[in-house]
Amino acid sequence: MKLLPILFTASLFMACNSDKKKDRSTLNFEEITISDTQEQKTTTPSFTRGKEVYSDFCMTCHLPNGKGIPGNFPPLAGSDWIKDKRAESLKAIKNGLSGPIVVNGEPYNNVMTAQGLSDQEVADVMNFISNSWGNSVKKEVTEEDVKAISK
Ligand code: HEC
Repeated sequence: MKLLPILFTASLFMACNSDKKKDRSTLNFEEITISDTQEQKTTTPSFTRGKEVYSDFCMTCHLPNGKGIPGNFPPLAGSDWIKDKRAESLKAIKNGLSGPIVVNGEPYNNVMTAQGLSDQEVADVMNFISNSWGNSVKKEVTEEDVKAISK
């Protein structure tokens, strides 16, 4: 008699497990690795942390290859914002961004909500996107730089 609840629990556990497997095959963003490029040489601790932040908070829109979706989500790979509008990019990551903008000559008019990141995480993800997919900005952004940006 005592065995019954144990068996019951065990079969429940197995049922949950197989459900989980099913979920993973439909929701497989976790399994996609961010495509690195040959040129990428920076692997500072901030860059490495930023890669995690990117896959958790940014990849769904800007995609693993950083190319975004034309007309909807602007590219980060080769983005002139990341190269030339460093302060604006940081501010956008910290506070969100909406309304008409032009990235690499293409117009966008959409909404990016603030992702609720800490100042350190904003700096880390900026360092990651600034040195991935062929982007190369040597000077690292720090937590202090992000702190200095008004909310
Ligand atoms: C819900 C989708 C979405 C998510 C998630 C998202 N973004 Fe964006 N991002 C956008 C959109 C849309 C814009 C353009 C907003 C506009 O049209 O004003 C944008 C603009 C940008 C820009 C400036 C333009 C460019 O292409 O260089 C940067 C930099 C950026 N995002 C980085 C990030 C980072 C880093 C994260 C993760 C912390 C992130 N985004 C998460 C949708 C998203």
